[in-house]
Amino acid sequence: MRTTFSFSSSGRLIFGNHSLKQLPQTLKFLGAQKPFLISDPVLNRVGLVQQVREQIPNCPMFCEIGPEPTLAMILDAYHAAQKHQPDAIIGLGGGSNMDAAKLVSILLTHGGHPKDYVGEEKVPGPVVPIIAIPTTAGTGSEVSLAAVFTDTDAGIKVSTLSEYLRPKMALVDPLLTLSCPPKVSADSGMDALVHAIEAFTAIDYQKFPVPDGAVSVYQGKNPLADSMAEQAIKLIARHLVRAVQQGDDLIAREGMALAATLAGLAFSNAAVALVHAMEYPVGAAVHCSHGEGNALLLPHVMRFNKPARLKEFATIATWLGEDISGLPLEEAAERAIVAVDRLREAVKIPARLRDLKVQPEQLPAFAQKAISITRLMRVNPIYPTQEEIEAIYKSAY
Ligand SMILES: NC(=O)c1ccc[n+]([C@@H]2O[C@H](COP(=O)([O-])OP(=O)(O)OC[C@H]3O[C@@H](n4cnc5c(N)ncnc54)[C@H](O)[C@@H]3O)[C@@H](O)[C@H]2O)c1
Ligand SMILES: [Zn+2]
Repeated sequence: MRTTFSFSSSGRLIFGNHSLKQLPQTLKFLGAQKPFLISDPVLNRVGLVQQVREQIPNCPMFCEIGPEPTLAMILDAYHAAQKHQPDAIIGLGGGSNMDAAKLVSILLTHGGHPKDYVGEEKVPGPVVPIIAIPTTAGTGSEVSLAAVFTDTDAGIKVSTLSEYLRPKMALVDPLLTLSCPPKVSADSGMDALVHAIEAFTAIDYQKFPVPDGAVSVYQGKNPLADSMAEQAIKLIARHLVRAVQQGDDLIAREGMALAATLAGLAFSNAAVALVHAMEYPVGAAVHCSHGEGNALLLPHVMRFNKPARLKEFATIATWLGEDISGLPLEEAAERAIVAVDRLREAVKIPARLRDLKVQPEQLPAFAQKAISITRLMRVNPIYPTQEEIEAIYKSAY
């Protein structure tokens, strides 16, 4: 039995409206004089790139990252950055751009290829400091140790996870999410919900069977992550639908920005688990967004995990606004699944894998890929078999 857990965050987090204006001080604090900005064409078009450049005129940039970035995009960004020998990398955007910034900073410092760093703690040392500025309320990449990209050759999304990848600075400015379209707000907001629920229901840190000498970036469920997951779930219950339906509601946007960051802190220390493992092959095959795939799979994975986490699911049900008084524990736990599914429906995320154009004959290969992601399997409250994963896919089909 383990007796300890650890907890890490970004070096410093500045939260609130207009926190973007603290970018110049942030760079000064880091001693950075040659930052390089990584973003995408949409954020350029809606004026967010311009807002950053008003703070740091003439900052060189690469604005060609696309959603769920491919290897080729990461390499293009790296080659563009390399010419400027930057001493800080700014990732402005959703998870896609922040993750691209993390991968570029690895390559700038340690050379090699993104694939060399896939897995846990493969980054050999500190990297060029990363400043993360989220424009979605979802991934928590601004505080997390993960960077995800699509390995187009292998047909799966892969992650590099390292404590060196936590941004040195995170500027979480809810005003930057106001232009986020309904679909991106819905998908990324549901991703944050998955982060919080997977962290809160992961295997207990005391029972987490990391073999001697093995590395795990995840600690398992622990009290610090629990308190952040709780707040995240309550905030999402209160603000997600409003943020999607009424994008200019700043209270809702603030609530979601805080929720996403809290969920990021929770999962990047406790865990994400089976939902994420099952989403990666789906996302790579049908190019749905990460949040959409996760949200669709969440109720089905919860039903599989429920026997191991009855109490936690009943608690989550109350946080999502369900009245469980007088219900037997099993039924109270089921209410969490019902509530999650209702939220998915309310933000118009499809219910079935077939709606994402998945073909039934793809499911066995998806299950084979998901089970191979050991780091996510072993933190799930129940270690599934490949057959069980395939059955979950079928129930979601
Ligand atoms: N590193 C981590 O810890 C972590 C965690 C979860 C997910 N991820 C990864 O993050 C990626 C998904 O990130 P995401 O959900 O934030 O979406 P995203 O970054 O892929 O963005 C989706 C689209 O929304 C647009 N957009 C973003 N913010 C906008 C704004 N304010 N106004 C207008 N348009 C805006 C983007 O330009 C893009 O076209 C996936 O690759 C996923 O695997 C990473
Ligand atoms: Zn996620």
